[in-house]
Amino acid sequence: MDTKKLYIASAIPYVNGTPHIGNALDFLLADIWTRYQKQQGHEVRFQLGTDEHGNKISQKAAEEGITPQAYVDTYHLNFKNLMAQLAASSTDFIRTTDPHHISAVQYIWQKLQPYIYKSTYDGWYCVGHEAFFTDKEVQGFSGNCPDHQKPFERVQEENYYLKASAFTDQIRTAIQDGTMQIVPEYRKKEFLELIKDGVQDVSISRPRKSLSWGVPVPNDPDQVMYVWLDALSNYITVLGYPDREGWQEYWPADVQVIGKDILRFHAGIWPAILLGLGLQLPKRLLVHGHVIVGGAKMSKSVGNVVDPVQIINEYGIDAFRYYFSRHIPTLDDGDFTWEKFEAAYNGELANDLGNLIQRVASMIVKYQAGVIGESEQAEHDMSLYHESMEKLEFNKAMDEVWNMVRSLNQYIDNVKPWEVAKEIGKDAEAEPHLAEILAHCAGALLQIGDLLVPFLPQTAERIHKLFDSGVVQPDEGVSFPKLYLHTADPHAPKA
Ligand code: MSP
Repeated sequence: MDTKKLYIASAIPYVNGTPHIGNALDFLLADIWTRYQKQQGHEVRFQLGTDEHGNKISQKAAEEGITPQAYVDTYHLNFKNLMAQLAASSTDFIRTTDPHHISAVQYIWQKLQPYIYKSTYDGWYCVGHEAFFTDKEVQGFSGNCPDHQKPFERVQEENYYLKASAFTDQIRTAIQDGTMQIVPEYRKKEFLELIKDGVQDVSISRPRKSLSWGVPVPNDPDQVMYVWLDALSNYITVLGYPDREGWQEYWPADVQVIGKDILRFHAGIWPAILLGLGLQLPKRLLVHGHVIVGGAKMSKSVGNVVDPVQIINEYGIDAFRYYFSRHIPTLDDGDFTWEKFEAAYNGELANDLGNLIQRVASMIVKYQAGVIGESEQAEHDMSLYHESMEKLEFNKAMDEVWNMVRSLNQYIDNVKPWEVAKEIGKDAEAEPHLAEILAHCAGALLQIGDLLVPFLPQTAERIHKLFDSGVVQPDEGVSFPKLYLHTADPHAPKA
């Protein structure tokens, strides 16, 4: 097999508060792709991290009456702990307050000098986005940021700019010819439309009086680096750029996972920085949609923010991974409600899969003292699964796995092994026939287990443990016991 070293990177969230289910999508999708590539035999470095500078964060720290450093030291742990659970295949973790990162970003600044100039910015800023907005955009929103429900701030200040416009042709060509693929296609079109008049130069610093919590600009004590220059650089500094061994083996990234709202930073500013540094562009940007809750945008003021930790504590990690990889379409927006989640959990995980594992294991224990016989395994055609994976449409790959789960259940219902068992002693064919049926089921489950490795690692491991050795050990465990914590149990006795 042709094994390659691959690098997979995930957007780094701001640590102003606690993570919500939308933030978790970045690192879950990156984890799925990492596990899939490892399964194909590749050596993968997978970065995670936290974005810890900027006004959004210093404002939160001020509200709590602590220093920004003390604030991020505490709050980054909420993200790090969640990432450790949901993206355990990760190999690297970066905080933008790490000393190595800070000095590497200052090096990047120096190296970009031929493309940096000073100018005055007179325009709009939204601290929630940590981003500059044009007059046209602000007018379109009638002066209020729709995402953060706050008026845009008018700012007039001296900034350093990155001459991103110098790279317009290179960026456009790289996107068009697929050197840097943007997935899905409609997002690529959207971005090309956005830069039809060229990539705009971008402000990469702010006066210290407007932004105190950030990386100091070298040789200019009055200026602090704009958070996005600092944050985007994490993707290479975490690998060791520029001074530590080995980063060249992993750059350019195979896939970078981001949400749709930060595409313009990743498809415009990030390539400009990389081209300015003489580095290659990432090969693919996986742009996922947003998770909404019951049709509405999640917001603290509406009070509909869903805590991923609650889902994991109540239903387990694989249940979380299942819902967010299958029922939230990878490349589009998707909806979460407790009703939908619980219906998927009880109907698909408990009934379809959990029951299937239990049924097959217990029949092999009951009828054959655990011994799995021999059977000709008809290899299920999984080309659609692999095609969907390669296209980064993970939900479609999961649909394929579920087709297999359902057809195996159907097969068992049709052949009724328990009826065949009753014939043993009466019909000489019954025993070998039953052994063949159950061996077929165990083999099919092992194939399902392989396909589930990237998605439901704990369940895949349980399936392999049960059926891999040829002898099924009686097992008390149940995958996905039925749970009705947020909706009524349809089978509960009526009061
Ligand atoms: N810190 C920047 C990213 C820097 S990357 C160099 C940032 N942070 S964020 O906390 O606002 O967002 C982190 C990620 O969460 C982004 O990919 C964003 O798209 C994603 N999401 C934020 N809300 C989301 C949903 N409701 N649903 C899905 N993803 C969402 O932007």
